[in-house]
Amino acid sequence: MELFGKMGRLPAALLSLFFILTSRISPSIVGDTLTPTQPLADGQELISTGKRFALGFFSPIKTNNRYVGIWYKISPPTVVWVANRQHPISKCNGSLSITANGTLIITDQNSKTIWSSGSSGLANPVAQLLDDGNFIVKEANAPVSFAWQSSDYPSDTLLPGMKLGWNLKSGLNRNVTSWTSPSDPAPGPYTMGVDLHGNPQIILWEGSSQLWRVGPWNGKILTGIPDILHYKIFILDFVIKNDEVFYMYNTTSTSFITRLTVNYTGFVQRLVWLDDSKMWSSYMSEPKDQCDYVSQCGAYGVCNTNDSPMCSCLQGFKPRSPTNWDLRDWRDGCKRMTKLDCRNGTDGFVMMKNVKLPDTSRSTVDRRMGLNECRATCLRNCSCMAYASADINGTGCIIWTTELTDIRVYSFGGQDLNVRLAVADLGPGLHHSHSHTMVGILVGSVLGILLFASVGICVWIQRRRRRGAIPFASRRNNECKEGKDWELPLFDLGTIIAATNNFSIENKLGRGGFGTVYKGKLGEEQEIAVKRLSKTSAQGTDEFMNEVTLIAKLQHRNLVRLLGCCTQEEEKMLVYEYMPNKSLDAFLFDKDKAVLLDWQTRYNIIEGIAQGLLYLHRDSRLRIIHRDLKASNILLDKDMNPKISDFGLARIFRGDETMLLNTQRVVGTYGYMSPEYAMYGAFSVKSDVFSFGVLVLEIISGKKNGRDFISEHEENLLAHAWGLWTEGNGLELVDESLNNSISMTEALNFIKIGLLCVQESPKDRPKMSSVVLMLGSKNASLPDPKHPKFFPTRTSSEIKSSKSKTDSSYRMHSISRIRRRVSSDGVNS
Ligand SMILES: *[C@@H]1O[C@H](CO)[C@@H](O)[C@H](O)[C@H]1NC(C)=O
Ligand SMILES: *[C@@H]1O[C@H](CO)[C@@H](O)[C@H](O)[C@H]1NC(C)=O
Ligand SMILES: *[C@@H]1O[C@H](CO)[C@@H](O)[C@H](O)[C@H]1NC(C)=O
Ligand SMILES: *[C@@H]1O[C@H](CO)[C@@H](O)[C@H](O)[C@H]1NC(C)=O
Ligand SMILES: *[C@@H]1O[C@H](CO)[C@@H](O)[C@H](O)[C@H]1NC(C)=O
Ligand SMILES: *[C@@H]1O[C@H](CO)[C@@H](O)[C@H](O)[C@H]1NC(C)=O
Ligand SMILES: *[C@@H]1O[C@H](CO)[C@@H](O)[C@H](O)[C@H]1NC(C)=O
Ligand SMILES: *[C@@H]1O[C@H](CO)[C@@H](O)[C@H](O)[C@H]1NC(C)=O
Repeated sequence: MELFGKMGRLPAALLSLFFILTSRISPSIVGDTLTPTQPLADGQELISTGKRFALGFFSPIKTNNRYVGIWYKISPPTVVWVANRQHPISKCNGSLSITANGTLIITDQNSKTIWSSGSSGLANPVAQLLDDGNFIVKEANAPVSFAWQSSDYPSDTLLPGMKLGWNLKSGLNRNVTSWTSPSDPAPGPYTMGVDLHGNPQIILWEGSSQLWRVGPWNGKILTGIPDILHYKIFILDFVIKNDEVFYMYNTTSTSFITRLTVNYTGFVQRLVWLDDSKMWSSYMSEPKDQCDYVSQCGAYGVCNTNDSPMCSCLQGFKPRSPTNWDLRDWRDGCKRMTKLDCRNGTDGFVMMKNVKLPDTSRSTVDRRMGLNECRATCLRNCSCMAYASADINGTGCIIWTTELTDIRVYSFGGQDLNVRLAVADLGPGLHHSHSHTMVGILVGSVLGILLFASVGICVWIQRRRRRGAIPFASRRNNECKEGKDWELPLFDLGTIIAATNNFSIENKLGRGGFGTVYKGKLGEEQEIAVKRLSKTSAQGTDEFMNEVTLIAKLQHRNLVRLLGCCTQEEEKMLVYEYMPNKSLDAFLFDKDKAVLLDWQTRYNIIEGIAQGLLYLHRDSRLRIIHRDLKASNILLDKDMNPKISDFGLARIFRGDETMLLNTQRVVGTYGYMSPEYAMYGAFSVKSDVFSFGVLVLEIISGKKNGRDFISEHEENLLAHAWGLWTEGNGLELVDESLNNSISMTEALNFIKIGLLCVQESPKDRPKMSSVVLMLGSKNASLPDPKHPKFFPTRTSSEIKSSKSKTDSSYRMHSISRIRRRVSSDGVNS
């Protein structure tokens, strides 16, 4: 059984409380399409082509009522849509059919229609369950337009690609409403939908009163959920057009199973299915703190969970009812200290940073106006209280002419809000608030991307020619014959010599696995790193070609980019983009530099490595095991974004991701090597997961597995981390130089993930796809890690030459004995 089995059971059981289908579902399947001649009886299922979703009759828990629903075809199945929410069938012989004119109807045991989709007037209708969970009615041979679709009538769940919001032409308002209870899908009190007033925003209502303002769209996110930016697997969109206003999200890969749900206790949850552990992991759960609940601090009050008390008045305002305010009854809010001096035009603005903008339902928006004009417009209008950009790129203008409510301050994210004050209330130096800090944010990110195109000197040659120049195909095993159509710029040796100042010692960056690395400059602008393979190292040629063929095909922001190669006059060189911040180990294990890696940076580095590795394992055109993941192979660009480098040992794999490949030659770096690889030479994607786990623990602790331990206690980082974790002292692992910048929950979460990755059995370790999901979910219940394997952490040369009788060398001795017994087709696990 999977190692997650035990831990997964609890959440699965909890979930099943709400979603398991208690009644029989017969295996008789009628495909994904319903026609007028073929109704769907209770017990039958429609199954979407990719087998992601099924549609049929089900019963929620603790009831025998039958409903027609759509569910994710996972175990336990999770219902995402219900047709007859308010009209259950009490017997198990209802049926769903489509009439000759295209109306879906559900009939009960007495053949009475209890639900219908409204008529569509089609001539030749069919209903089809699509692989995105949408159930559509359409003309049989017209693939594009749907006469009716279930996604226009969401239940309690928004799936990727579904719209939340309005079709202004037809008046259709798509909102998401909780179930009444786990056994009753009828609409409950909680609804999430789009409020069109003023600047459109998403609201969670309880009945008719606002509970949580998810907030307006700022061009990138909904302002009420600033931390969604961490979750790189989601793509969010908010469309405001003349005929439509809606919110929609998607995932970066269709392989993620996810849903956004309003649960019946009134929380909006964003959940992602962890396939390894068979449970839903919560990425987001809102409202999450008291400041999220609408207008806790009254008009002109500011809510900040980091403050005590959490409410304060805006600058220039004071409590309207001081006594109540002191008693922490903040409902009356605040009032202005000094009246605005409107006509003389002397009012100014104070800028607040990191704000969730006040309720925009009574604001006025002009999407074209710039910020300066916005300010002037506000000054001209005596009732204007504040202004802000509508978009974080600095365009658009929101003006509030009524009282400001539901303001909160975040420690991260949010926007700038400019509040109008009489000159007497403007603090020193705060008057002129047309700062445009936001404008700069987006500029930098565009620059780094132009490298490839700008290499003017590249000579693109056809594969035929290159084959002659680079005699690799016959020498490589099958794994590398994949190299069919790679095309890589070939650099002229003279160019490289000029760029690196004839490989001068000043340009030397260091020695890599199989050669020396030099810094160089192409033309005026582009900095490069050149890896020059040692001529003496015969063994390196394989690795060189391996790296060329592999990395030429890979493109990901977290993989170092190969710009080209040079194979002239016995020279073999690889040309990379230059990484000004060198490698991670240079920062991490250096006391002085480690302080530069604050928590946010480490968070980004861990996440970036995970994304890069996931790409290698699953999303690239080839599936690749890196085999030598370690801190010195993580390079950092100028913004400290991590890039995985050094593919000299990487291997392509096919088929089952968990398949163990076997190698005679154990290469790699002890300390990062999984036990099965170090001991049996068996490697799989899970060996990379192991190395990743070691890296995570190193990044959090600032300690190197091996070096910082072996001399002290015969204990390594894994043993140390495991010890602290089991004692409940996990946070002691955290690098002292992080001081207060850490988020304790995130740190503990990461330590746990690190420990999950270094579990002894490869089967127990999560796949990288799960790791990426787990990294993103702050409050998900993760399975508990098992005891990792503490095997010796010497360098490989030490181990090979060691003849001493220490415990570890004894163990290595037995390792080599075992290895000889292992058959060539793998390892029994
Ligand atoms: C439905 O089932 C009930 C018993 O569960 C039976 O009495 C009834 O006749 C059935 N109706 C139809 C239309 O089959
Ligand atoms: C469609 O057919 C149903 C009965 O099958 C009928 O009640 C309804 O009026 C028809 N609608 C249209 C638009 O023809
Ligand atoms: C969502 O993303 C997938 C790829 O990840 C794409 O195929 C699909 O068309 C997208 N859906 C929408 C509605 O944009
Ligand atoms: C949700 O949508 C339904 C159907 O369009 C509508 O009747 C209801 O008023 C909406 N609720 C809210 C709170 O917008
Ligand atoms: C800013 O965002 C708005 C809306 O998202 C967009 O229309 C506009 O083109 C953007 N402007 C710039 C300069 O990126
Ligand atoms: C609803 O969401 C909240 C917050 O995540 C959670 O504590 C609660 O258990 C959820 N309820 C159900 C029924 O899932
Ligand atoms: C405008 O300013 C003048 C002098 O600065 C002052 O006397 C007058 O009262 C001000 N007007 C208003 C409406 O505050
Ligand atoms: C001030 O702005 C509001 C909202 O845009 C508008 O209704 C009002 O007419 C304006 N007042 C003046 C004097 O321009």
